[in-house]
Amino acid sequence: MVRPLEGKIALVTGGSRGIGRAVAERLAADGALVAVHYGKNRQAAVETVSSITAQGGTAFAVGADLAAKDGVKTLFAALDDELKARTGASQFDILVNNAGIAPFANFADTTEAILDEIYAVNVKSVFFVAQEASKRLRDGGRVVNVSSVVARTPSPDLIAYSALKAVINNLTQSLAVVLGARSITVNAVAPGAIDTDMAAALVKDPAIAEHLKSQQALKRIGQPEDIADAVGFLASLDARWVTGQTVYVSGGAALTI
Ligand SMILES: NC(=O)c1ccc[n+]([C@@H]2O[C@H](COP(=O)([O-])OP(=O)(O)OC[C@H]3O[C@@H](n4cnc5c(N)ncnc54)[C@H](OP(=O)(O)O)[C@@H]3O)[C@@H](O)[C@H]2O)c1
Repeated sequence: MVRPLEGKIALVTGGSRGIGRAVAERLAADGALVAVHYGKNRQAAVETVSSITAQGGTAFAVGADLAAKDGVKTLFAALDDELKARTGASQFDILVNNAGIAPFANFADTTEAILDEIYAVNVKSVFFVAQEASKRLRDGGRVVNVSSVVARTPSPDLIAYSALKAVINNLTQSLAVVLGARSITVNAVAPGAIDTDMAAALVKDPAIAEHLKSQQALKRIGQPEDIADAVGFLASLDARWVTGQTVYVSGGAALTI
């Protein structure tokens, strides 16, 4: 069987858990060698790598706290070492900027520390991971940023998170233009509520889960694989003419008022 990403190399930030894990597994199933990045939870990354290798794929773990000063440098120093050991070079093909945090805080409760941390992990690291990756991505490569439906329809209980996810959609458009001359596409996926640790307080609460479903065209809670399959498409050759777009992968959340 020909696997569409055979010979390609992918970096998935936050690949240790949730959506990132499902993305790492999908890209590996498609034939890519996957760098599974984690922040603090090395054990989760090791489990993701084990799951991939058990399915016949190839992967390795790289750790770096993206909230820390020099976190991006730490990530690429580790990635370069791992890739050089495996391939003799530090080039790769696919970046999935997925790592993120979503602390619940409304307008009154959002402190400078909360906003700074969301900014560091969800925006600053995405910018500089993309910048470092752009030096290593081969022509024809792929960048997929993970945004959120709240970038378009903000949640007042996630006020800073919502506003800063909107930055990701905007950045996706600029990066598509900057990298387009090298045939590198840059897109974003915007999930609705997905059954991961991040959204556990919502999706594990029966009343809230029912409310979320009522606000979606498709009446179930999204699973990490629902997002991973969309990322798999955007990372593939089939998506070669799609760039600068934010694809809402949300079961049709908040389509109407
Ligand atoms: N779940 C949803 O409903 C939903 C909806 C829309 C958008 N999203 C977006 O989807 C992405 C993934 O979310 P998820 O639900 O899969 O979250 P999750 O289950 O909480 O996983 C978060 C991932 O990000 C990593 N991470 C968190 N803080 C980090 C830091 N300081 N440095 C490095 N890595 C860090 C974690 O690494 P460790 O394992 O080491 O902690 C983990 O791999 C995020 O960008 C999120 O905003 C999620």
